[in-house]
Amino acid sequence: MNTAKILESFELSRSITLKNRIIMAPLTRCFADKDLAPTQLISDYYARRSDTGLIISEATIVTPSGQGYPNTPGIYHQNQINKWKEVTGSVHKNGGQIFCQLWHVGRVSHPTYLTGNKPVAPSSVALSGKVPRTEFEYGTPRALENEEVYDLIKKFKQAALNAIDAGFDGVEIHGANGYLLNQFIHQYTNLRTDEFGGSLKGRAKFTLDIVEQIIEAIGADRVGIRFSPGAYMNQQHTEGDEKTYAYILEELNKKKIAYVHTGIFDDTTTFDYLGGTATSFLRKHFKGNLIASGSYTAAAAIEAIANDKFDLIAIGRDIIANPDYVKKIIDNEKLTEYNQSMLSELY
Ligand SMILES: Cc1cc2nc3c(=O)[nH]c(=O)nc-3n(C[C@H](O)[C@H](O)[C@H](O)COP(=O)(O)O)c2cc1C
Repeated sequence: MNTAKILESFELSRSITLKNRIIMAPLTRCFADKDLAPTQLISDYYARRSDTGLIISEATIVTPSGQGYPNTPGIYHQNQINKWKEVTGSVHKNGGQIFCQLWHVGRVSHPTYLTGNKPVAPSSVALSGKVPRTEFEYGTPRALENEEVYDLIKKFKQAALNAIDAGFDGVEIHGANGYLLNQFIHQYTNLRTDEFGGSLKGRAKFTLDIVEQIIEAIGADRVGIRFSPGAYMNQQHTEGDEKTYAYILEELNKKKIAYVHTGIFDDTTTFDYLGGTATSFLRKHFKGNLIASGSYTAAAAIEAIANDKFDLIAIGRDIIANPDYVKKIIDNEKLTEYNQSMLSELY
């Protein structure tokens, strides 16, 4: 395996150079404490993976209404910021860099996580299925009032400022996997008639406003965003959604952000309406750095990077199973195989 290019340093933006092109994918682990703050165990878990070019943190909620799973960390109060400082400090001490993935689940939640309140979403469009790890069914969310949408944009901005305060090197806006930004982009979940819906530009506005506000707060060089243009998780495609993505990406081309990142579990999946894979669609429309992810082996990623299909690779499950993933790639050692039981502890 010719690992040379994947192990070379990479200039992600004006201010950030990565020591290699292997990224630790964002991975929700549900180990935060009762204040939804990270613990020493979480800090040690990330520190062990500091030889990746960049760690993207587990999805981290920007405000309490953004929670949809147990014990997922937040970055909206001082105790959380203080605890994240310990995480980022340990990663930096080991020579790594770390971005915070900023998250709001929207309708992918349940009153059990929201002190009895209904989940909020662009529109009252029900989500079917069971809330993971519980016996509860998802339900019908409450449509956000117009001023509440503006307030959430501010929450994302404040969370980005908090992340920088906590020592993160940047933020990744979670626009993927059927969560709140995704719900605004897709016609199926956005039936709004105000300026945040009704047209392609309307459905793009929430995402683009958040990007703009965060750039203003912390600089474009510290901002990445993740998208799932192939609706595959908690989401449904409607003809024309791909045009909204193309428009958003065109707008992002003007902003010089650090990267765009594909959110998908298997990036060999092709979508008729995207004219190929999710990553090939993002590559076609976005001119900046592209991180791919989704069931890549190191060999497949090396070949795809050599063929200019994308620039960096995010690895999820294999990095859960192999804290020493990068070393094993360097030494051409066999990887430990991932299995779901590994999610029950942080090692
Ligand atoms: C346990 C687990 C938790 C995940 N949590 C997140 C998350 O918090 N944010 C996110 O964008 N993607 C999340 N993902 C998706 C991964 O980032 C990644 O895209 C996916 O696992 C495919 O990459 P892989 O085949 O290398 O694992 C998660 C995946 C797994 C398996």
